[in-house]
Amino acid sequence: MANRITINADRAKGTINRNIYGHFSEHLGRCIYEGLWVGEDSEIPNTNGIRNDVAAALKQMKIPVLRWPGGCFADEYHWKDGIGPKENRKRMINTHWGGVVENNHFGTHEFMMLCEMLECEPYINGNVGSGTVQEMSEWVEYLTFEGVSPMAEMRAANGHTEPWKVKYFGVGNENWGCGGNMRPEYYADLYRQFQTYVRNYGSNRIHKVACGPNSDDYHWMETLMKQAHRYMDSITLHYYTVPGESWQEKGAATGFPEEMWRVTLKKALFMEELIRKHSAIMDQYDPEKRIGLLVDEWGTWHDVEPGTNPGFLYQQNTIRDALVAGISLHIFNAHCDRVQMANIAQLVNVLQAVILTEGEKMVLTPTYHVFDMYKVHQDAELLDIHESIAELGEGQQAIPQISVSASKDDKGRIHISLCNLDHQASAKVEVELRGLVGSPVSIKGTTLSSDTIDGHNTFEEANKVAPTEFTAFSMDGQLLHAELPPMSVTVLEVVAE
Ligand code: AHR
Repeated sequence: MANRITINADRAKGTINRNIYGHFSEHLGRCIYEGLWVGEDSEIPNTNGIRNDVAAALKQMKIPVLRWPGGCFADEYHWKDGIGPKENRKRMINTHWGGVVENNHFGTHEFMMLCEMLECEPYINGNVGSGTVQEMSEWVEYLTFEGVSPMAEMRAANGHTEPWKVKYFGVGNENWGCGGNMRPEYYADLYRQFQTYVRNYGSNRIHKVACGPNSDDYHWMETLMKQAHRYMDSITLHYYTVPGESWQEKGAATGFPEEMWRVTLKKALFMEELIRKHSAIMDQYDPEKRIGLLVDEWGTWHDVEPGTNPGFLYQQNTIRDALVAGISLHIFNAHCDRVQMANIAQLVNVLQAVILTEGEKMVLTPTYHVFDMYKVHQDAELLDIHESIAELGEGQQAIPQISVSASKDDKGRIHISLCNLDHQASAKVEVELRGLVGSPVSIKGTTLSSDTIDGHNTFEEANKVAPTEFTAFSMDGQLLHAELPPMSVTVLEVVAE
């Protein structure tokens, strides 16, 4: 069966918040240290300690927002340990992640500098699990207070007289687990208390983020919405695609058996059900959809690469991960009325990273290329789509052959992203473009594919899986015919006159 897609170019369904293409960086393994921060004295080319190659790649990808310092680390982090002269900063053991020494050389000033360099929005996650109301309140004061105050003076003494602008502030992370093992009723009360002291100073307006559920914990969502919806601007959702049977046997990132291809994509597609069901609960308390759902941790979680520290969560990244990224981003786009942000875990060298580094070497992963190709959807209008798509497999295990999303940008250009989930065969697709003003005058395409189900880039072969020009399409009136390569992610740009 030919796959048939109708795109109504004159029917916009909402704006795709650019922050759906957001990222997450934790003090975990080699994400911050080595991945982003090498220090001013490093031989690796850097600007004030931030590696130049990584910063340039992230700017190219148009990173819109970056979450920090965790993750589980956030509820162990005491921000005052990470300010002032570096030689005086407290050293501690990162008990969560590998038991290594954390020297606190990357702290508030360094993070805010990084965001300025990348021109992205900071999203700071405060400590509820082992912190105090005062500590959280003073962090916000330190960051944003303009005028005379103890924290503003401390900030000035540390070299930053002007306050920063900080919008997104998370009140705890995974407080149902590593953030304190709390029950939802208890956390809801703590959330109400802590957020009271997360103040707006001057013209700065904080968007308060409550810790939401793990995966399909609908009771957590129900309780938080019932007890605290008035006090939050957003609530989070965490869901990881773990291909294997259990957290003990997650499966390898490369060299995995063929049957794991579909199993992985099926698990990634579960995100759709999660967002739909959590949104339905949110709708009961917030029918106006004022409160955002922030999927601020998502992505694949495989076994670590052999020989690496199990606490560092370092994994390779293949075309399979690229497909997981492509279909997940489509799901977030489709729910842009509720999903205001999503942050793939994590930025560099950890889990489904967009960048891997080794000493002075850097490689862009297939997932990076998806984010780079999809940046055209950022802040664009989501277009209405109707689809009739073939299925791969049967019954409960079936997955669609194709996943699609389309948007119109502020210049009227239409971008259609298409994933072919079939690892064995190319996929024929007919796209009817309705409601175009004028007829298409130019169409161009880019595609990312691979010859093998675990195709990936290495430091030796950095461009094995890289985007190439896509030309396997033709236009017949309003009908676009395309043949998508097996296991591929393709973006088409249509300009009409
Ligand atoms: O991203 C790795 C970890 O996964 C985070 O620290 C935690 O929030 C989640 O369990």
